[in-house]
Amino acid sequence: MEKSITEDVLILAIESSCDETAASVVKNGREVLSNVISSQIALHTLYGGVVPELASRKHIEKINQVVESALLEAGVTLEEITAIGVTYGPGLVGALLVGVAEAKAIAYATKKPLIGVHHIEGHISANFIEHPELEPPFVCLIVSGGHTHLVIVKDYGEFEIIGRTRDDAAGEAFDKVARAVGLGYPGGPKIDKTAKEGNPHAIEFPRAKIEGSPYDFSFSGLKSAVLNYINHAAMTGEEIAVPDLVASFQNAVVESLVSRAVMAAKEYGYTKLAIAGGVASNSALRAGMAEACEKEGIDFYYPSPVFCTDNGAMIGAAAYYEYKKGIRHGWDLNAVPNLKLGER
Ligand code: KG4
Ligand code: ZN
Repeated sequence: MEKSITEDVLILAIESSCDETAASVVKNGREVLSNVISSQIALHTLYGGVVPELASRKHIEKINQVVESALLEAGVTLEEITAIGVTYGPGLVGALLVGVAEAKAIAYATKKPLIGVHHIEGHISANFIEHPELEPPFVCLIVSGGHTHLVIVKDYGEFEIIGRTRDDAAGEAFDKVARAVGLGYPGGPKIDKTAKEGNPHAIEFPRAKIEGSPYDFSFSGLKSAVLNYINHAAMTGEEIAVPDLVASFQNAVVESLVSRAVMAAKEYGYTKLAIAGGVASNSALRAGMAEACEKEGIDFYYPSPVFCTDNGAMIGAAAYYEYKKGIRHGWDLNAVPNLKLGER
């Protein structure tokens, strides 16, 4: 039985698209009653990156425990849940399948509606959790390990992608550069920390511009420039000042992200700009974005770090708005590794 629209809507949300097994209970899309995340970072650190097969196996091991903890922490029983939300793409197919199978089993057993959620829609929706006043339309920059998208959020669940990366995602560039300088995995947080001791203007790295596509990004040239710099130093026996190197790299990434996002808000006429995804917790990006938005009279929104990297709460927030739109999935819901944003 579905609840009437006047009652509170409690979503049990599951996320397992990459290396985090996560579940959360979210009330009315914006109030997080629990947010349980079992990270696989320690496991994948051994290999310098996510190993898909190991990720799937770890999800299977953890998923029941994570869901049970989420319900327990929220003080909510399965019977009290309104609907089950789950990430069904994009992501690693084996990893996604674990969450999708879990969500379908729970929804089937409890006779609750099942709502498949796009992972990026989840990241964007993370902004709703701590900003009750934030409503579409607004511009959102999504920067994670797998995605770099500049999107106009026209309405809940309605998007227009105006820019994307042509090669590496921003987080991927952070991870690759961190590995090259020996900072380890995942690189983003390590570069963020190390860059605080460096000079962001020490080395002038290139900022790519794509002819005819002012909102697209490219980070592979920048990454190659950093690798060339390291190789050149190794050949000539020069010592590298790692903090200066990573601060200069980070500055180049931040400048290309901030300039395009702010330009989009101005040219499309939006006064609200949000950021989302793992890289949105980067301190230099937050500072650069806050400064540029302040200058242009744009309201700037960003989630707390725990809601930037993969989590269940953001999926619960997105699932709530999908639920309100009447979106329901059947028992044939499957993992879609290359799901497009806005596709259902
Ligand atoms: O959103 P997320 O958890 O997973 C994906 O959907 O990809 O993002 C993970 C990415 C990784 O590449 C990680 O290095 C990056 O986010 N990241 C950061 C920071 N924290 C996480 N990048 C830069 N600065 C950070 N503080
Ligand atoms: Zn993500």
